[in-house]
Amino acid sequence: MKNSIKPAEGKLGILIPGLGAVATTLIAGVEAVKLGIAQPIGSLTQMSNIRLGKRTENRYPKIKDFVPLADLSDIVFGGWDVYEDNVFEAASNAKVLDAGLLNAVKAPLEAIKPMKAAFDHNYVKNLDGKHIKQFTTKYDLAEQVMKDITDFQKEHNCDRIVVIWCGSTEIYFEESEVHQTLAAFEQALHDSDDRIAPSMIYAYAALKLGIPFTNGAPNLTVDIPALVELSKLTETPIAGKDFKTGQTLMKTILAPGLHARALGVKGWFSTNILGNRDGWVLDDPDNFKTKEVSKLSVLEEIFKPEINPELYGDLYHKVRINYYPPHGDNKESWDNIDIFGWLGYQMQIKINFLCRDSILAAPVALDLALFSDLAKRAGMSGIQEWLSFYLKSPQTAPGLPPEHDIFKQLIKLQNTLRHMMGEDLITHLGLDYYQDLVESM
Ligand SMILES: NC(=O)c1ccc[n+]([C@@H]2O[C@H](COP(=O)([O-])OP(=O)(O)OC[C@H]3O[C@@H](n4cnc5c(N)ncnc54)[C@H](O)[C@@H]3O)[C@@H](O)[C@H]2O)c1
Repeated sequence: MKNSIKPAEGKLGILIPGLGAVATTLIAGVEAVKLGIAQPIGSLTQMSNIRLGKRTENRYPKIKDFVPLADLSDIVFGGWDVYEDNVFEAASNAKVLDAGLLNAVKAPLEAIKPMKAAFDHNYVKNLDGKHIKQFTTKYDLAEQVMKDITDFQKEHNCDRIVVIWCGSTEIYFEESEVHQTLAAFEQALHDSDDRIAPSMIYAYAALKLGIPFTNGAPNLTVDIPALVELSKLTETPIAGKDFKTGQTLMKTILAPGLHARALGVKGWFSTNILGNRDGWVLDDPDNFKTKEVSKLSVLEEIFKPEINPELYGDLYHKVRINYYPPHGDNKESWDNIDIFGWLGYQMQIKINFLCRDSILAAPVALDLALFSDLAKRAGMSGIQEWLSFYLKSPQTAPGLPPEHDIFKQLIKLQNTLRHMMGEDLITHLGLDYYQDLVESM
């Protein structure tokens, strides 16, 4: 595969539906890194190394020096929002980054003005923005989004484009017959069927143009058979859903450790308070439900109570999110975990994570954008399960349970990169070190 990966030449356009807290923190961060006034901490593509070959070879290149990724200086940002604020205004309103940093990157941020959104108020009731496209049918809306993308590409002289959804969480709904095949989906677009969410319209538009699409929110979006079909047809990578940050990140770090040591878990109560616009949207029960389903799925998969009933059969798992304006983007989460050990003796773990939601999400969004561009150039299409590492509710092939354990996800990601570049996969078996010793004796 190595020789067939197209080089990352020219500019990469990253187009983002939803220029809110996460997107503006990403854009401002990339501009600050370009200026040399900040570090892209939390981004594997920029900061991490990868081991190659045997441990004794001592080869640990940076991921960005190992695989051909777009350089940050070649990135151009754009996007859509239901509010007209440019990215500098939106970032200032989001109050994630301090004024000093924002002022240093004011010019490039002010230059990014959102395109009008493909929006449906029924999917996000707590938003009242008016910067919205008019349309005859949803198919017409999809065509308008396609035109936005191709116009942007021409105007900014981009060699390639990727789209990453950083829009609000849409209301909960399950897939139905209009989502099963591409033909049914396209008919539903023509019929302006209620079951086609705005995020699906962006996804359809991108995939139709062969542009990778990743989804940072828990909405279904590309996680439906019709859009998986389209992604294969146009040979385009897709990934979703829901950036893994904050509390769920902690959960998928800690739970594999408890499981690894065969410690039992009786209860896991997780509560969050946050006061940003995301928190306000999630204050609506229909939107919260989408998030809840995404957050609840992780423990079941890691603990597998069906094969470990003595340890996890009675696990009570509860997740709450409350809107609390004084905290802004600084989400606070508490976890109370009731565990038990040898002979059933009980213990407790308490986690109080005072996190910054968008500070954790921005590098995840950057890596997803850069890796989905890499995947496209490497000829990979359809669901990119190796990107599960970044996602709370990873999209998988039908019937395949997702992998939530962050350590397994990391091994999968790293081995995929090694595979792409023709390097040996690393199993961590290590017996050969000792066999060599025995043979040489
Ligand atoms: N911050 C995190 O740690 C984190 C983690 C996981 C998932 N997410 C998800 O990422 C998304 C973005 O989070 P955020 O904190 O930036 O939220 P935000 O509310 O600050 O930004 C979302 C933006 O999307 C816009 N929007 C909504 N519908 C749109 C549409 N149809 N077209 C274009 N724009 C639209 C809104 O106007 C808003 O500006 C949310 O869905 C959130 O649940 C965030």
